[in-house]
Amino acid sequence: MSDDSRPSRTAAVIPAAGRGVRLGPGAPKALRALNGTPMLIHAVRALAASRAVSLVVVVAPPDGAAEVKSLLDAYALPERTDFLVVPGGQSRQESVKLGLDALPPGYDIVLVHDAARPLVPVDTVDAVIEAVRAGAPAVVPALPLADTVKEVEPAETPGAPEPVVATPARARLRAVQTPQGFDREILLRAHETVTDNVTDDASMVEQLGEQVVVVPGHEEAFKVTRPLDLVLAEAVLARRRLTDGF
Ligand code: C5P
Repeated sequence: MSDDSRPSRTAAVIPAAGRGVRLGPGAPKALRALNGTPMLIHAVRALAASRAVSLVVVVAPPDGAAEVKSLLDAYALPERTDFLVVPGGQSRQESVKLGLDALPPGYDIVLVHDAARPLVPVDTVDAVIEAVRAGAPAVVPALPLADTVKEVEPAETPGAPEPVVATPARARLRAVQTPQGFDREILLRAHETVTDNVTDDASMVEQLGEQVVVVPGHEEAFKVTRPLDLVLAEAVLARRRLTDGF
């Protein structure tokens, strides 16, 4: 898989087309501000902070590509990184596929990163790229779980008691984050082959029978999903401003 004589070029696809209904009413999630800057811009900067990433493809809300293009023009982004914006689809999977379809040739490593994880540290991005370069077909950053997890029989009425079916051993479970990194050819094959509805790209590669490996994730790579996550994200940014002046 890896060929040390050939420099590998890395592109990142950022799906940002979700409405973010769990955050409450308002603009599409990725366009909401964190300390005055849209979440998407934080996410784009987080990926472009890696010197290995030379192209970022942003997958915009289906009717929001022009707005996202002007946002990228309005905020300072690294000169050495190229940017593309494409309209997204109805599901995350469809949005990622549309981003992959827009990738020019010449990139052999592809990262897929949720716009909803705006604060991922560059060291996590680099660790994922490094593991793909070292030969893994698919790499996911992940953390051990704090909570015990139960599998249940989902209730038909929301809020009704749900019977527990199983308690998987917590020590063997990991909570998976993004960016997930891939050998480009394998990720394209996964998106062409797997039609089940999935919640991450690595599980599509698992379905191909290819090895997916986990590297350590980071607590600041959490997904902004609910209103409390916005408070946490702004607190992390405030702490970074104090400690790094950034
Ligand atoms: O909904 P969820 O939080 O799992 O979304 C994860 C990421 O996928 C978000 O960055 C969201 O903008 C993106 N997404 C997308 N297209 C959709 C649905 C979600 O790009 N149709």
